[in-house]
Amino acid sequence: MVKQILTGWLVIAAMVSGLDAQNTKTLWLDELDVSNATAGWGRTRANKSVDGNVLTVNSQTFERGIGTHAEGQFTIRLDGSAAVFTAMVGVDDEIAQSPNGRHYASVTFLVIGDGKELFNSGAMKAQTSAKPVSVKLDGIKLFRLIASDSGDGIDYDHADWAMAKIEYNGSRPEAIEPIKPKPYILTPKPGPEPRITGPAVFGARPGNPFLFTVTATGERPMTFEARGLPKGLALDSQTGHITGTVEKTGKYQTTVAAKNSRGRAERSFTIVIGDTICLTPPMGWNSWNCWGCAVDDAKVRATARAMADTELIHHGWSYINIDDCWMRKRGSNDPVTGDPVRDKDGRILCNDKFPDMNALTDYIHGLGLKAGIYIGPGPTTCQNYEASWQHELLDAQQFAEWGFDYLKYDWCGYSSVSGNQTLEDLQRPYILMRQMLDQVGRDIVYSVCQYGWGEVWKWGGQIGGNCWRTTGDITDSWSSMAGIGFQQADLYSYAHPGHWNDPDMLVVGKVGWGPNLHDSHLTPDEQYTHISLWCLLSAPLLIGCPIEQMDEFTLNLLTNDEVLEVNQDPSGRQARCVKKDSTAQVWVKTMEDGSQAVGFFNLNGFEAAAISVNWQTLGLEPASRWRVRDLWRQKDLETAQGTFSTPQVPPHGVLLVRLFPHK
Ligand code: GLA
Repeated sequence: MVKQILTGWLVIAAMVSGLDAQNTKTLWLDELDVSNATAGWGRTRANKSVDGNVLTVNSQTFERGIGTHAEGQFTIRLDGSAAVFTAMVGVDDEIAQSPNGRHYASVTFLVIGDGKELFNSGAMKAQTSAKPVSVKLDGIKLFRLIASDSGDGIDYDHADWAMAKIEYNGSRPEAIEPIKPKPYILTPKPGPEPRITGPAVFGARPGNPFLFTVTATGERPMTFEARGLPKGLALDSQTGHITGTVEKTGKYQTTVAAKNSRGRAERSFTIVIGDTICLTPPMGWNSWNCWGCAVDDAKVRATARAMADTELIHHGWSYINIDDCWMRKRGSNDPVTGDPVRDKDGRILCNDKFPDMNALTDYIHGLGLKAGIYIGPGPTTCQNYEASWQHELLDAQQFAEWGFDYLKYDWCGYSSVSGNQTLEDLQRPYILMRQMLDQVGRDIVYSVCQYGWGEVWKWGGQIGGNCWRTTGDITDSWSSMAGIGFQQADLYSYAHPGHWNDPDMLVVGKVGWGPNLHDSHLTPDEQYTHISLWCLLSAPLLIGCPIEQMDEFTLNLLTNDEVLEVNQDPSGRQARCVKKDSTAQVWVKTMEDGSQAVGFFNLNGFEAAAISVNWQTLGLEPASRWRVRDLWRQKDLETAQGTFSTPQVPPHGVLLVRLFPHK
């Protein structure tokens, strides 16, 4: 009897466990819809590398898996009853065909379950053996595979999740689109009373036309006043435009005021007439990151109009800059007549998308804004349009005649005529255009664009550049933005009033580099980081999205006057990175009034963190007491002595504060 019962139990137990084993199913990740996976370059493929080859890591081939590219994410919904995920991960051999590829590739493979890191491969280089992954999935509902660039840019990061599979018991795992964090607004709207914004110092050359707009937030109608303007200048009390010409060099201390039915605000404003313009970093818009070569007259006007209508203009935003593709292409317009790219006198011609440049700049100036243009020193621009090679003076004159106030001079096509790239070769075309601009009787901000070659920050100012690009082109990914931004740490001593390091244009709002736009792939917190960092860096701020399509989040992000003040501080200092580890950085910028702007950056993309700093690290008197103001929220947090610790900073987010001496 006992024997019978025991046998019965054994049979049932065997049946149950047999049932379990039978119910555990295997799902190969390549069976999922991989079109939901994102890739920083190319597209994610099932059973193939990102380039479409057999998955191969360090000569080991795999018959199945997923091939992708950093920064790549694959999000999978589980029902909490999945058992285990296994895979072999590594950098695909296909990049080893290029010697650079071998050197640059580095991918970190991360497995995240419900926001917690379950596996981290560390930075994997090319031609290292695939690493096995095996993680338990008990209870997990949201499962993410991330191929990250290891923080050094995405170049050559071909990432393989070979033999990737999930063992599960319940419902079949499902691939879903990456979950996008919701935008959230931090900054209160400006009050109705007048508050003067924009730079407190402005430079112009003697004898050149002067144009500056006094800007202020607050209810309209508003009128403006100025006291102590130098001889030759007048202010339009309705628009705040200060125009005229000053002949005498010097530093003029003036006072500007704004008045409405709610009150009156005034602020001192310094005008410096001399050799140096662009005394604070330029703030404006550029067509490239949104429209690329699809830019045209109507799009530029729409953005300029919106700069005024959205009231961005009241926060000091002023330049409207046309990037590449406004000129003609050699021989492409009419191969029969050879439709010229220049007129018979050698003057450059616009293409059909820009029918009347003078009318366009008049329109921009009429709104109280300034206008910018783009060309390069070579025979052609980066997009193969006509450029200034051997026509430098004519082009500079033309830009002045058209009324442009800003020139981005982009190397690209110059490589075909530069010979070598010695320091002298690198400087030559920029010195030449500087000399030409000096002859045209107009203040034109000179933006040197050659991607940081020859350590341009060491000489860009000496050859007369107002700003110089320090890196290659930015894109709207964390690795690109953060890679470029945080790389600027060593360049702080090269930024001065009139001369700025330029880590490239902003990637917030809708971007696309062509006719089709998408919302920036940066998360809201990454966008707060982007603007905070660029402000601390005293970088030019050039919005790269169509302003007429700007959503409320982006508008809020770009209209926080306390944040913009960090960028526009007259001292012109660039922040220094004073604390750095693998997950957090602290940057500090001493402002002209002795207050300290401090950015606490959380580099961890998955977990919030508190970040602290002591006064010694910030270079402050250990016993001193400071009022800590949260600039994004425009709210005082506490007074601190000796040390300050942030509340939790979100993943890839920032706390930007300003420390004021506590009386
Ligand atoms: C280069 C520059 C970009 C942009 C394009 C235009 O890539 O770095 O900022 O101006 O050219 O072709």
